[in-house]
Amino acid sequence: MDKVCAVFGGSRGIGRAVARLMAQRGYRLAIVARNLQGARAAAGDLGGDHLAFSCDVSKEHDVQRTFEEIEKTLGHVNFLVNAAGINRDSLLVRTNTEDMLSQLHTNLLGSMLTCKAAVKTMIKQQRGSIVNVGSIIGWKGNAGQSVYSATKGGLVGFSRALAKEVARKEIRVNVVAPGFVHTDMTKDLKEEHLKKSIPLGRFGEPEDVARAVVFLLESPYVTGHVLVVDGGLQLAM
Ligand SMILES: NC(=O)c1ccc[n+]([C@@H]2O[C@H](COP(=O)([O-])OP(=O)(O)OC[C@H]3O[C@@H](n4cnc5c(N)ncnc54)[C@H](OP(=O)(O)O)[C@@H]3O)[C@@H](O)[C@H]2O)c1
Repeated sequence: MDKVCAVFGGSRGIGRAVARLMAQRGYRLAIVARNLQGARAAAGDLGGDHLAFSCDVSKEHDVQRTFEEIEKTLGHVNFLVNAAGINRDSLLVRTNTEDMLSQLHTNLLGSMLTCKAAVKTMIKQQRGSIVNVGSIIGWKGNAGQSVYSATKGGLVGFSRALAKEVARKEIRVNVVAPGFVHTDMTKDLKEEHLKKSIPLGRFGEPEDVARAVVFLLESPYVTGHVLVVDGGLQLAM
């Protein structure tokens, strides 16, 4: 049976590295992002018959339509990675409601919507594996990131509860919680200063996180777990 994996946020950064690793391991990929050109470029780089889809995870009808298209073209989704995410860093008193909602809708509601759509088909298949990409900030907190922290902390509660709901159907749900990783999201950070607080002395690469995501996707006896991939940053926070 085909192994079909949908990677939301697969066009760039961590999601793209996950897609690369999964393609090497024989999965058929659905690369999903808002920007179809970006998703197509990422899917094209993989070689083989992987497909790109445009979808805004914060919009329910978009998510439903995308799952229908994936099923029609690639088949049942049995692996799901939620790596679509945004940040709008600022102190809470300076954060407008629009920025609060866009983070909540993309990072938290978006993963709920994709999980709901995926779990419906996974239940019929009596198997499936989901990895949601959280953040160490969701556990430790960080000044200037209160709303982002809330979305990532919420994702852990959501994932653990869902893991309990679907375990009897042979569906597993786990979270990877990265620290600082070299992607577009972190390109404006002061790396030289920040890396002094990371015990392993460097930012992570998307591939470092991708290895952990694939480990969780493929580990048959692990569910409800939060795997921290942060170079030891949490030890110092
Ligand atoms: N980089 C880090 O240091 C770090 C640390 C901890 C956690 N994380 C988390 O890891 C995940 C991936 O982050 P990254 O650093 O790889 O970010 P990135 O390089 O900015 O990539 C973000 C991806 O998400 C997609 N995306 C954003 N909003 C979307 C939406 N509404 N609907 C569908 N796709 C959307 C983007 O494509 P489009 O723009 O085309 O939609 C892109 O593919 C995020 O959840 C982030 O919070 C990152």
